[in-house]
Order: sequence, then C-alpha cells, then structure tokens
Amino acid sequence: MKDSDKIVLTPTHQQRTSNPHSPKLFMLWLILAVSLTYFIYTLKLVSTSTTCNHSPLSINLHSSTTTTNTNTSKLTSTTPHKTHLKHVVFGIAASSKLWPQRKNYIKLWYNNNTMRGIVWMDDETVKTDPNEGLPMVRISTDTSNFPYTNKQGHRSAIRISRIVSETVRLGLKDVRWFVMGDDDTVFVTDNLIRVLNKYDYKEYYYIGSLSESHLQNIYFSYGMAYGGGGFAISYGLAKTLVKMQDRCIHRYPGLYGSDDRMQACMAELGVPLTKEIGFHQYDVYGNLFGLLAAHPVTPLVSLHHLDVVEPIFPNATRVEALQRLTVPMKLDSAGLIQQSICYDKEKKWTISVSWGFAVQIFRGIFSPREIEMPSRTFLNWYRRADYTAYAFNTRPVTRNPCQKPFVFYLSKAEFNSTIHQTVSEYERHRVPHPECRWKISNPSALDKIIVYKKPDPHLWDRAPRRNCCRVMKSNKKGRMVMDVGICKDGEVSEP
Ligand SMILES: *[C@@H]1O[C@H](CO)[C@@H](O)[C@H](O)[C@H]1NC(C)=O
Ligand SMILES: *[C@@H]1O[C@H](CO)[C@@H](O)[C@H](O)[C@H]1NC(C)=O
Ligand SMILES: *[C@@H]1O[C@H](CO)[C@@H](O)[C@H](O)[C@H]1NC(C)=O
Ligand SMILES: *[C@@H]1O[C@H](CO)[C@@H](O)[C@H](O)[C@H]1NC(C)=O
Repeated sequence: MKDSDKIVLTPTHQQRTSNPHSPKLFMLWLILAVSLTYFIYTLKLVSTSTTCNHSPLSINLHSSTTTTNTNTSKLTSTTPHKTHLKHVVFGIAASSKLWPQRKNYIKLWYNNNTMRGIVWMDDETVKTDPNEGLPMVRISTDTSNFPYTNKQGHRSAIRISRIVSETVRLGLKDVRWFVMGDDDTVFVTDNLIRVLNKYDYKEYYYIGSLSESHLQNIYFSYGMAYGGGGFAISYGLAKTLVKMQDRCIHRYPGLYGSDDRMQACMAELGVPLTKEIGFHQYDVYGNLFGLLAAHPVTPLVSLHHLDVVEPIFPNATRVEALQRLTVPMKLDSAGLIQQSICYDKEKKWTISVSWGFAVQIFRGIFSPREIEMPSRTFLNWYRRADYTAYAFNTRPVTRNPCQKPFVFYLSKAEFNSTIHQTVSEYERHRVPHPECRWKISNPSALDKIIVYKKPDPHLWDRAPRRNCCRVMKSNKKGRMVMDVGICKDGEVSEP
C-alpha cells in the first residue's frame, strides 16, 4: 500500500517543484501566446457575426465544436439535432414483490407511446397488461456466478447494477441516453430532456446527483450518482461500459449496493459524476415541503422515496398527490415548483411562491437569502431532526408564533387561451396557528391565492435566475391575486 501511495504522489510533487523556464523565455512565450489568441479570437468574431444564432439549438452548437472543430463552415451550417424523449431509454429496477404498488408511480410519468423503457424484474411472477401503458417487463439475467461478500447488503445489487449493460445489449436503435431509475422514481421527463440537451451524448457522461444525507455521501461517495434519484449514461459512455462492466463488478465483491458498483466502474473508466441537482434521491423522512418549496434554481428532474415521505399534498394519498402535481407539470414543466419571492409592503408580508405546488405567506420581512433555504420540515435519514446531517443549508423552523408560515397548496391549474397564461389556484391549509399579538394583517383572512404565469419553455435556455412575483390588485374578499414571470429590467426581490 505504501509503495503505491508513493508512486501516485511523486509525479505531482515533481511538477510543482521543477521550473524549466527562465524568466526571459517565459516572457517571449507569453507575448506569442497572447498575440496568437488575439488573432484566433478576431477570426472567430468575424465568422460568427455573419450567422446570428439565437435559436435554442445554440447550446448544442457548443458541444459540436468537439467533433467538427476542423471545419468552421460545417460548424455554422449544420447544427446537430436536439435530443428528444425518443432518444432516451429508461432502465427501471423493480422487484416483483413491490410491483403491484410501485407500478402506480411509473404510470404517473411514463407514456408508452412517446417513450422507451424496460422494467427489469427479479422473477417472472409479474403479469403485465398491455392496456396499462407501462414499459415492457424483462427478467434480469442470473447473477449467481458473481461474487458478493458484503455482510449488510443484498446481492440483488449486482443485478441492479447490470441493468445499464443489459439495456444497452438490447441494441435499440437511435439511443442517445440510458436513464436509470427505481420503481419508486418519478421523472419530470421534459426537464430531464432539458438537462440532457446540455451535454453531447457522443462523449462520456455520467449525470446524476448526491444524497441529501452528508453521512450517506461520506459512507458511499460524494462522487456517486444515487440511483433512486435516477442517473443518465451517455451513449458514448454506455458503449464502452458494456464491454467492461461485468469484469469490473467481479473486482468489487465487497461493495454494498448497485450505485457504488457503478461508481467503481466509472472510476476505472476515469469518468467523474456530472452533478445535476434537479435529480432528487430524497434520503429523508417526514414532510418534503421545505425541500420542494425552496427548490434550487434548476429544473426539477426527479423525485424519489415517495413511499418513505408523507404525501406531498395534505389529505391525499401519495399517488393522488403526485397526480395533482402532474397538472402544472403539463402546463409549464420548466417552471414546476420554481420559487419566487416577493413582499406585500402594505401588509408587511413575505410571500414565497413555489409555482404549481404551494404559496407561503410569512408575517414580517424575511430576506430572500433566508427564504431560499429549505425549511426543516423533514427528518434526516436516521429519523432525527438534526440539521448538521445535510450537505446543504437549511432554515430553522421559527420560534416566534407570529412567523409560522400560512401555507396554500395547489388546488387547481389550467391554461387560459384568451390571456395566454396559466392560472393556478392555491387553497389555505387550515391548521391551527399559535396566537400572535402582532398588529399587522393576519393572512388567515385569505382562503385562496390565484397566480397568473405565462408558460416559459425556454426558462432554462437562459442563465439561471429566479422569477419575480408581484401582488396584484384584487377586489374579492379572502383572495389574493399574484403574477409570476421573468423579472423586469431592474426588478429585484427587495423588501
Ligand atoms: C467543410 O465542410 C463543407 C460541408 O461539409 C465542405 O463542402 C468543405 O469542403 C469542407 N471544407 C474543408 C476545408 O474541409
Ligand atoms: C407499448 O407500445 C408498443 C408499441 O409502441 C407495443 O408493442 C407494446 O405492447 C406496448 N407495451 C405495453 C406494455 O403496453
Ligand atoms: C379531505 O378530502 C376529502 C375527499 O377528497 C374531503 O371530503 C375532505 O373535505 C377533505 N378534508 C379536508 C380537511 O380538506
Ligand atoms: C380567461 O381569462 C379571461 C380574461 O380574464 C376571462 O374572461 C375568461 O373567463 C378566462 N377563461 C377561462 C376558461 O377561465
């Protein structure tokens, strides 16, 4: 062990200490390099100014430079086609025991007419009805000849890790991305495509996200995609992975699960995790509200562990609650649960809109930097209310009885074609509020909040930024009307 440590360490050490260039030579090099860059830059400016490209395809243009960098006329005349849902194959890890309940999560997001997917099952006891519109079911090949020595885990991890290879070996045509998920993962497929379009499928990409649990990330890795939240493997990478994965899995009999086996092979391939924080493993218990209502400024790609947490809307079953979320998802997937923060200056309220999910009103003024932190409505993966357990900041639940937020949950959403806007309604969650002696207006006078928002499919083609919200005039008692959309020039969330 010590010898190998030395071998790894010496080269970097040498690089740091050696200094082969004299100062004069260095200056000469610098001048040469600067003039050369200037020359190339000028050339580029001239060639691009003639072909103005404002289409959303311009994202792909960048990635195409890696493959066609020698011929500039090709670069500007042909842009590679955008990735669509038809270019994705989903590989879903399932077990026959849980299938009768879990298939209901897949039905929420999967469409057999527009998507391709395979559910990989552990045995053949599951019967499928083609009318259910679920992905086709296949039985994973036997893995009993693979060694497995982990005392805590289960050897089904090998089967699940191999789903990528098994899906690739089906040889489906025109595939650009293999996307893995569990049977309790819900994908927002439009947003998945938005994220995948940032990357060149011909190159090697391993895209996903971490656990919310700092300890899980320490125990497994801060460089591992947590499979429940889903992860994507580019076609380029999949082609190479399939040739080595079985040999690789043989080398790691002591690992616990399928995700760490996948990461071990990625490490052998030298491919790091590309983090996209819209994939959600959700290694938490209790109420997801805080996390959903303060989603990071990135598209919502997936939700997981929905059996573990409470239903995301009160007074509904888990599946009913998610079903409700699919309504705004269809109207404006890019904006789904995106947060905007504004103030009712007269009433001295802070308002947070998580579009398509919930609106919160706080008495008093909270700064955006407080409100954009998830509030601690959830417990950690060890069922404790311990905020040091997370790999991100959280906001404590306020002690002041006046500052308990009034929550309004989505009750209805539709598109109004006269005004070309979505109209979503949020009803007050009627829970007892502690007595408050502040003299400012009481949000409990409101029953309903109506939010107008123009669908914005190109939201993520621009630099990430929260939308702005505004309180509109309303003459109906018990109602507040709001507007959410792109911030106007100079508009900020200013108390
Ligand atoms: C660049 O590509 C175009 C179109 O594919 C081709 O007509 C042209 O000859 C190429 N130029 C060079 C220098 O390879
Ligand atoms: C899904 O659709 C394909 C055709 O697009 C059909 O052949 C297949 O039977 C369907 N699968 C299920 C499980 O409904
Ligand atoms: C809960 O839902 C049921 C049926 O959907 C409804 O009848 C009932 O009024 C709801 N309760 C509350 C407190 O909203
Ligand atoms: C759409 O909005 C217009 C203008 O506010 C309103 O008159 C109309 O009733 C709305 N249509 C629907 C279907 O709600």
